[in-house]
Amino acid sequence: MTNHVLFVGAGNMGSAIIKSYLKISGTSDVIHVIDPFVSDNTKDLLSECKFYESFTDLQDSIEFDTVVLAIKPQSFDEISRDLSNFITEKSLVISIMAGVETKRISNSLNKNAAVIRCMPNIAALVNRSVNVAYIAKDSNQSHKKRFENIFLSSGPIKWVNNEDLIHKTTALSGSGPAYFFLFIEALAKAGQNAGLSEEQAMDLSIDTLIGAAALIEQNRSPEKLRESVTSKGGTTAAALSVFMSNNNLDDLVSEALIAAEKRSREL
Ligand SMILES: NC(=O)c1ccc[n+]([C@@H]2O[C@H](COP(=O)([O-])OP(=O)(O)OC[C@H]3O[C@@H](n4cnc5c(N)ncnc54)[C@H](OP(=O)(O)O)[C@@H]3O)[C@@H](O)[C@H]2O)c1
Repeated sequence: MTNHVLFVGAGNMGSAIIKSYLKISGTSDVIHVIDPFVSDNTKDLLSECKFYESFTDLQDSIEFDTVVLAIKPQSFDEISRDLSNFITEKSLVISIMAGVETKRISNSLNKNAAVIRCMPNIAALVNRSVNVAYIAKDSNQSHKKRFENIFLSSGPIKWVNNEDLIHKTTALSGSGPAYFFLFIEALAKAGQNAGLSEEQAMDLSIDTLIGAAALIEQNRSPEKLRESVTSKGGTTAAALSVFMSNNNLDDLVSEALIAAEKRSREL
């Protein structure tokens, strides 16, 4: 039996997830994509998919086994009535939208379909997302399998059993890549202020983060790694004492996560 999977939205995240799904699973599913403005480049990369500009272009007779909502949270109300015509109580709806709770999705679609909420991150572009996912306890195991079939290729799946945690993981791992990008920018700027060329400072900052990430992948204890490279009275200790004085960095990071979680609850 052929499964029909519909992606609503093929922007940054939607297209990254489809790409890894197609590349790794070699799926026999038929993948349909609705997005009003998909670039030609994305269409070329996802040439196996069927593209539509809006729900009105879809055949009325298709009922989707799985739907992935990869639109901005602000677009959900606009699409929910149209989408509800193409799903049944057997469908699985997967949402990666920040902030939108499963209850709101179920109520708007009004079809009793199973809903999984997932918070990936942009590293899905290189199959290194962290996909935090929530499904209601009474859900069918086959829904979990269907979800894993689509998402596992973009990165590991971490199930949580309390939906509220998704707001917190959105703040940590969903938005997290941008925090490291910002840190690289700051490091490079500081290097430039110290007299390095713009290119040197950026190159060194990026390669240092890549090296540190590789080390942390092998030895998952950042504290031990930090201690092992910090000699008493040395240069690293001098810099870390600035980051760590009065809990500066801890407090700042905590404040940032609280702001992101608050925003997730508002969406
Ligand atoms: N980016 C991240 O790092 C990240 C991480 C985790 C979760 N998320 C979540 O993933 C979702 C998508 O984010 P994104 O970064 O991929 O956003 P995006 O690049 O803006 O992608 C959203 C896509 O949906 C399209 N769209 C808008 N209205 C539509 C409609 N009515 N029907 C079909 N498609 C429509 C948009 O087209 P237009 O551009 O023409 O509007 C766009 O191509 C968001 O809910 C976000 O919270 C994002």
